[in-house]
Amino acid sequence: MDLISIEELDRAKIDEIFVLSNKFREGYKSDLPNRIVALAFFEPSTRTYSSFESAAKRLDVKVIGFRGEQGISTSKGETFSDTIRMLDAYADAIVVRHKYEGAAKLAAEVAKKPVINAGDGRNEHPTQALVDFYTILEEKGKINDLNYGIVGDLKYGRTVNSFLLMLNKFSPGKVYLISPPELRARKEILDRLNFNIEEIDELEVNINRIDVLYVIRIQKERYLDAAEYQKVKGSYRITKRIAENMKKDAIILHPLPRVDEIDREVDKTENAKYFIQAQYGIPVRMSILTLILGDSYE
Ligand code: NCD
Repeated sequence: MDLISIEELDRAKIDEIFVLSNKFREGYKSDLPNRIVALAFFEPSTRTYSSFESAAKRLDVKVIGFRGEQGISTSKGETFSDTIRMLDAYADAIVVRHKYEGAAKLAAEVAKKPVINAGDGRNEHPTQALVDFYTILEEKGKINDLNYGIVGDLKYGRTVNSFLLMLNKFSPGKVYLISPPELRARKEILDRLNFNIEEIDELEVNINRIDVLYVIRIQKERYLDAAEYQKVKGSYRITKRIAENMKKDAIILHPLPRVDEIDREVDKTENAKYFIQAQYGIPVRMSILTLILGDSYE
């Protein structure tokens, strides 16, 4: 089993991942002797890399690999496919992050072992969506019938794409997509969604209706044109005053890293759940690795 897009997972598989995540939090130990996972991070990463590394180590799975293009042979001219073929021979599963959309899919075509997409360009980041929704379930007790606000760079944010495609498997209430006009979600994603969406520019008007506010930073590295980036930089910001106008039990999520889109003051509010969300990354990724590594030997 590969995990390239969140669309590949049905509700039963998602439930299985969440149930297993609960078991890991309660101290369950899975049996994955002598497994090796390769972390092939061709693009910088702190959280996702460390989160996968920590999850693997907690499972007693050995980790090989690299992060960043420096120090790996593609900088000597080796093709991406050859690097993947080599890791395919060394490891039992490969976790791939790459700046180009489609890289994880290509890796899955080349590799015989399972491939997990840890973010491919502006396309998708399915394991982050699993972490996001596990957090919603834990912190709100349900996923259906809640109103969602997704704010930020909806154009280049791959976590947003996976979040929306995951939400499509559930029955949300109203979903507000909040961004300056230049940063609207991609049409090819919107066309696939079957829930009630409203695209708006301003956060404040509907803030008291939202149960789950999902915030992402401007994806600076995806802008080819510095002027285009300058135009949208700092165009939205969650302040303490905005948080105070939210429902008391509304939650604020962020896949991190944060730049300046959420004021530090918001961290202390009851609504801020982004650090706990990062913590949930461990049991959720332990579950994903367990299902995938178990699978690779069946
Ligand atoms: C996200 C990513 O890499 O897409 N980060 C992450 O995986 N935690 C979001 C981002 O970089 O803004």
